Amino acid sequence: MNIGILGVGHIGKTLARRLSAAGHDVKVANSRGPETIEPDVLANGARAVTTAQALEDVDVVILSIPLNRLSAVVPLISKLPVETVVVDTSNYYPHRDGKIDAIESGQVESAWVVELLGRPIVKPWNAIGSDSFAIKAKPSGSPDRIAIPVAADREQDRKVGMQLVEDTGFDAFDAGPIADSWRQQPGAPAYCTDLTAAEMDAALAAAERSRLQKRRDLALAAIMERVGGGGKNPDADYGVRLNRALFM
Ligand SMILES: NC(=O)c1ccc[n+]([C@@H]2O[C@H](COP(=O)([O-])OP(=O)(O)OC[C@H]3O[C@@H](n4cnc5c(N)ncnc54)[C@H](OP(=O)(O)O)[C@@H]3O)[C@@H](O)[C@H]2O)c1
Repeated sequence: MNIGILGVGHIGKTLARRLSAAGHDVKVANSRGPETIEPDVLANGARAVTTAQALEDVDVVILSIPLNRLSAVVPLISKLPVETVVVDTSNYYPHRDGKIDAIESGQVESAWVVELLGRPIVKPWNAIGSDSFAIKAKPSGSPDRIAIPVAADREQDRKVGMQLVEDTGFDAFDAGPIADSWRQQPGAPAYCTDLTAAEMDAALAAAERSRLQKRRDLALAAIMERVGGGGKNPDADYGVRLNRALFM
């Protein structure tokens, strides 16, 4: 597939490398221009371009930018053909994104994104920590391969999202519609706890909506104490131990 990725941070850089290695034609962009993209992002053949170029003539657009930056790309997204699959990896962290009243009042994060973008999306890769994503990929059929939940409303979006998750080295798990995607939001048992497909159904079912915010904030406070601020991410070992203790 022809894929345009916006964002080459913790998650986007691994997406660029894996999806290129899987044989996709990948273009990547950040907000500062192609010359600022690190060479290792491009190691498997992805090309650094501008944001506008990243969205030209692609089958799939992947948004891997902070939730509070999505509004900046709405004009570009609104020009995409209706059949283009738009993938969004974002999570809402108010300390980073600022408070968003609708989400604070209980709107499902990805339902808010759908409203903002004015089009359907598919939500994979939001529920895997960046270090697990970078180091725990395995070939299909491997024992204990980690699963990633995928929520979508359009069948074509779900199909493509699930295929791309498999291509990045993880089992794709159908997590139902966007309205249910709160079950894979920060604070939920399925969020960044590195579960297998056999464990995922029960984890999604066990999510308790009223406890998500508090558990998310507890985890964030522990991570900030451990690794400091500045957007640093915990390593997989610590992040998964912490999230399992708090979310499951
Ligand atoms: N980190 C994780 O473990 C993790 C796990 C799952 C999901 N997520 C979610 O995935 C999203 C990305 O997270 P991350 O940790 O990868 O973020 P990050 O490391 O902060 O990287 C963000 C990337 O987005 C780019 N960007 C920002 N605004 C842009 C715009 N208007 N156009 C194009 N590119 C833009 C940035 O480019 P510049 O530097 O040039 O601005 C940067 O490359 C977030 O919503 C996050 O919550 C993160």
